[in-house]
Amino acid sequence: MSDQKDSKGKTPQRPENESGSASGDGATGSGNDNRSNESKTVPKNVAESLIEMNPALKNELVSMDKDKAANALRNMDISQLLTGLSMGGKNQKDMASYKFWQTQPVPRFDDQAAKAPIAQGPIKIIKPDEVSKTPDPLLEGFEWCTLDLTNETELRELYELLNNHYVEDDNAMFRFSYSQSFLHWALMSPGWKKEWHVGVRATKSRKLVASICGVPTELRVRGERIKVTEINFLCIHKKLRSKRLTPVLIKEITRRCYVNGIFQAIYTGGVILPTPVSSCRYYHRALDWLKLYEVGFSPLPHGSTKARQITKNHLPSNTSTPGLRAMEVKDIDAVYDLLERYMRRFDLNQAFTRDEIEHWLVYKEQPGKEQVVWSYVVEDPETHKITDFVSFYNLESTVIDNPKHEAVRAAYLYYYATETAFTDNTKALKDRLLVLMNDALILAKQAHFDVFNALTLHDNPLFLEQLKFGAGDGQLHFYLYNYRTAPVPGGINDKNLPDEKKMGGVGIVML
Ligand SMILES: CC(C)(COP(=O)(O)OP(=O)(O)OC[C@H]1O[C@@H](n2cnc3c(N)ncnc32)[C@H](O)[C@@H]1OP(=O)(O)O)[C@@H](O)C(=O)NCCC(=O)NCCS
Repeated sequence: MSDQKDSKGKTPQRPENESGSASGDGATGSGNDNRSNESKTVPKNVAESLIEMNPALKNELVSMDKDKAANALRNMDISQLLTGLSMGGKNQKDMASYKFWQTQPVPRFDDQAAKAPIAQGPIKIIKPDEVSKTPDPLLEGFEWCTLDLTNETELRELYELLNNHYVEDDNAMFRFSYSQSFLHWALMSPGWKKEWHVGVRATKSRKLVASICGVPTELRVRGERIKVTEINFLCIHKKLRSKRLTPVLIKEITRRCYVNGIFQAIYTGGVILPTPVSSCRYYHRALDWLKLYEVGFSPLPHGSTKARQITKNHLPSNTSTPGLRAMEVKDIDAVYDLLERYMRRFDLNQAFTRDEIEHWLVYKEQPGKEQVVWSYVVEDPETHKITDFVSFYNLESTVIDNPKHEAVRAAYLYYYATETAFTDNTKALKDRLLVLMNDALILAKQAHFDVFNALTLHDNPLFLEQLKFGAGDGQLHFYLYNYRTAPVPGGINDKNLPDEKKMGGVGIVML
């Protein structure tokens, strides 16, 4: 999927080197572009600092002659500086103003430009007794609801809303299809709160027309532990778009978090908002190239043949790491210990509890429930110590209007860890990950996935290109709500390619 309308930045995207397509549109398209041209222009010091944060754009400017670059810079708005998207591209008209976001406790774009080092911490201190006890009113004819996802009917309602109205690509070829098992897993993690499964219903028909959800967790941001809500599944029925319902939903879930004593949040998106703490790039590894070609996900590169593409993406039928096996309940402590040490190597990471490890990583077969997560450990055949661990999850996309295929089965690389990471030997780590991840690809292929997706976070830059992942044309931006920290590296360099020197930043995977 090339240009993703996808404000999550994570529907399948054609590898850029094959599609040669233009990059994505932020697609907030909220018709609120009411800033004057003048105010769109960015002061020089702000521009310089934003360019530093934006490797792709920096690269684009370097290849231009000086006058042209200066001119382009003068005419650019902040969103372009941040996205690094083509200057002739669609983003030009986007996001001249953030009427809503400018009222929120989020870092401003120009914070990065300030001379003083960024002081890490909350942006606004929230006084619980000043938090409103009641939600803001909704549009006439609609009302708030709290979803009870333990109730099959309500889980199904959320599933249907998302299946019909959640993230699509620009060409409306694919739409995310989160299964009910997935939603159950994603939204009922340890400590989950019903109040954070927020819905909007049409008063008369009772139809669910919008959602925004959150689950509690803890992050470590450069060693600082913070309790946060992970926000996900912001979705508005297509007929209710561009009515400024999003700010109302965001304010309501924020209020419900404040009421529960949580004052920070983390969220991701493919759109640029003020202000990403990091940006990663999507990579895609074809497992069933022919199917990806038939659904329009992978084009046939010029000069190649179908047979050649199939051969190129061929994988061995069996894994090669001795001691590799499915993770079981008995492995929880070992995986917890290994993952905890591994995660601390990243600026922004999730401080898992043991219960969370069990919830997020151990698949327990249940009648009628689809498998969502696949986790494997490597048990040293001699010492029986768990030395490595890798996992991926299933997120299908509906193929809209294709005579042959209904869905693309995508495996998304989830958490992993290896003892080799603590040897301080990047070459050894790379060699280990190449074997481990190749095995993960084989396991995903055995589980009938069509494509394996990964971002440039964790240590992924060490293996993506060598294992034939193609560069996607989407970025995934990470945001913190009511928390400020210096930018965190996203694993990509000034050519927008995976770079070992840019690792160590993002250590969290958001669904
Ligand atoms: C994303 C979506 C909820 C936006 O709805 P909309 O009707 O276009 O926008 P609204 O008129 O309600 O609100 C516009 C405001 O929301 C903000 N906004 C839009 N998408 C946003 C997002 N993904 N996250 C946070 N804020 C967002 C806009 O920036 C704008 O605020 P601003 O004035 O400060 O710029 C809607 O397009 C949708 O449901 N899309 C499919 C699912 C999806 O992409 N979900 C987001 C996944 S991250």
